[in-house]
Amino acid sequence: MDLKNKTVLITGSASGLGKGMAIGFANLGAKVVVTDIKKESIDLVVNEIISSGGQAIGIEADVSIEADAVRLMEETVKQTGSLDVAILNAGILRDGLLVKVDKETGLVKGKMSIEQWQAVINVNLTGVFLTGREAAVQMINNKKQGVIIPISSVAMYGNPGQSNYSAAKAGVAAMTKLWAHELKKSKIRVAGIAPGFIATEMVLKDMNQEALDKWKSLIPIGRLGEVDEIFHTAKFIAENELIDGVIIEASGGIKI
Ligand SMILES: NC(=O)c1ccc[n+]([C@@H]2O[C@H](COP(=O)([O-])OP(=O)(O)OC[C@H]3O[C@@H](n4cnc5c(N)ncnc54)[C@H](O)[C@@H]3O)[C@@H](O)[C@H]2O)c1
Repeated sequence: MDLKNKTVLITGSASGLGKGMAIGFANLGAKVVVTDIKKESIDLVVNEIISSGGQAIGIEADVSIEADAVRLMEETVKQTGSLDVAILNAGILRDGLLVKVDKETGLVKGKMSIEQWQAVINVNLTGVFLTGREAAVQMINNKKQGVIIPISSVAMYGNPGQSNYSAAKAGVAAMTKLWAHELKKSKIRVAGIAPGFIATEMVLKDMNQEALDKWKSLIPIGRLGEVDEIFHTAKFIAENELIDGVIIEASGGIKI
């Protein structure tokens, strides 16, 4: 797909990987839809793109709310005339062990709360389901041979301390493959990205430092990934019609 003047929507694009991808696709001449729950940050990204000569609009939406997901995709088509690429990137972390055992007593002193579990499932799994479904609705009804790019994670293999996150990301990987089958007849491609550890706020600030140091030492290339490397992977999927029904691991070779 030639991305010039195509509509590329990226959920969770007010910061981190989403922001990097929004700027990257805008630099290729795409009309970018910046969508997130953070209104002020959406405006900053949109202004940054427009002031450097790119095309962008902002739409505030919470991916975990069905009505927001429906409105987001309808508004996108109304305002830009199309929906060609949807990158399902919004995500959160609420790390914790399934059960935390006290070293001295050998007894359980904490556990992952239902709130921790549900918050991550709502955004990272239900949010991808809702936005993926509504992106497909708009692509099909507007007769677009679009591309859907869900963002999973290498944590899909099961990362200790992340029952909620790993379960959601494994679900995203499963949906990516089955959507590619289901949507084939509508000529919509679906291919995902499973990043490893990328230098974004989510990793640098939100992740437990001890866990981050441990994982960093296990990355064969010896460094965190860069946001631009994930944009490059998304661009490759969007442009290359041979890529369908797969999840590309962009991780520097880390094995979980
Ligand atoms: N950074 C990494 O190392 C890494 C690794 C693997 C996968 N990922 C995945 O990449 C994606 C982006 O991560 P990031 O590191 O850029 O994180 P980030 O925290 O910088 O960005 C996530 C964005 O999602 C938005 N968001 C949160 N809840 C939302 C909701 N309900 N509706 C809409 N937007 C919402 C946030 O406001 C934020 O702007 C996530 O899905 C994450 O799981 C990141």
